[in-house]
Amino acid sequence: MKGKGIRIVATGRALPKKVITNDDLSKMVDTNDEWIVTRTGIKSRYQCEEETCVSLAIEAAQKAVKKAGIDKNEIGAVIVATSTSEHLFPAVACMIQQKMEIPEEIVAFDIYAACSGFLFSLQTAQGLLYSMEKPYVLVVASEKLSRIIDYTDRSTCILFGDGAAAAIIEKSKGTYIQKSWCRGNMDALSCVGVGMGEGYVKMDGSKVFRFATGALAQAVKETLEEAQKTIDDIDYIVCHQANERIIRHVQKKYPGNEHKFYMNIDRYGNTSSASIPIALDEMKEQEILKPGMQVLCVGFGAGLTWSGALIEV
Ligand code: UT7
Repeated sequence: MKGKGIRIVATGRALPKKVITNDDLSKMVDTNDEWIVTRTGIKSRYQCEEETCVSLAIEAAQKAVKKAGIDKNEIGAVIVATSTSEHLFPAVACMIQQKMEIPEEIVAFDIYAACSGFLFSLQTAQGLLYSMEKPYVLVVASEKLSRIIDYTDRSTCILFGDGAAAAIIEKSKGTYIQKSWCRGNMDALSCVGVGMGEGYVKMDGSKVFRFATGALAQAVKETLEEAQKTIDDIDYIVCHQANERIIRHVQKKYPGNEHKFYMNIDRYGNTSSASIPIALDEMKEQEILKPGMQVLCVGFGAGLTWSGALIEV
């Protein structure tokens, strides 16, 4: 990808108003705050009431475009990573085009790649940017996971939260390296589609845990190798926020660099495709991320899929 880099110009996020604490969940299933915090690091998560996957996506996209200060006429593609849209079609991306009145001469589509959705969208955006005239791609990740969660299943309902975030992507001469993987698997993590029975997340937690620790470690190591860099050369590592213990497993492989692993899972839970861009937006807002910094984003999820992207913000 030498000479064909991309960077994140600006981000935005949108969250439902309602917060669900571990104590709230303990009134619904046989669980407790101590178990959830110890096993996952999660203390609370957001849950949609009025909000929809589409409304969150639009709000996040509007904020990102505003912060980037760009002209919406210069957006050549809208890509939305989601697995939880209210509609199979039209795509959420098309609803963003309508609401934001982005000129019609664009491509607009959704990507179904579960928790790797944002990173796979980023890779797709890179390809599009080098094959189209307009300078920006709007990438959004939006999830209303509460729609596909069985709130009588304590092994899954404590993990997930709703939320969305968006990023404006442009071409850049700076570093951009991305590596992605797929290993088709139906047993570890799945959810059936419309008309196919109970549309709830089914997960073998320990199988996913074992996969995730290996996948994250591989993505960090091989993306750095591909970039011919070490962890000392990069500023932050933003992992998909699925379980604090999964991130700590990788973190301990890099002594002296523990502080580079950003975590916000305590306040959001696992927001699937939205977790990485939500973290990036929070970090930019708090000025933890400054222009020109190099961030290694690493994600994994159902598929099974995983990806590492070293990108400038
Ligand atoms: O984006 C990717 C999505 N998914 C993931 O990343 C999930 C990866 N996996 C995990 O994060 C962990 O496997 C979990 C947090 C889901 C579970 O943690 P664990 O340490 O692997 O627990 P476990 O499944 O081995 O269960 C241990 C015990 C079991 O009881 P017994 O059989 O030992 O009596 C479970 O029934 O904990 C019980 N348990 C709970 N107890 C209280 C399971 N869920 C709960 C709960 N509250 N919510």
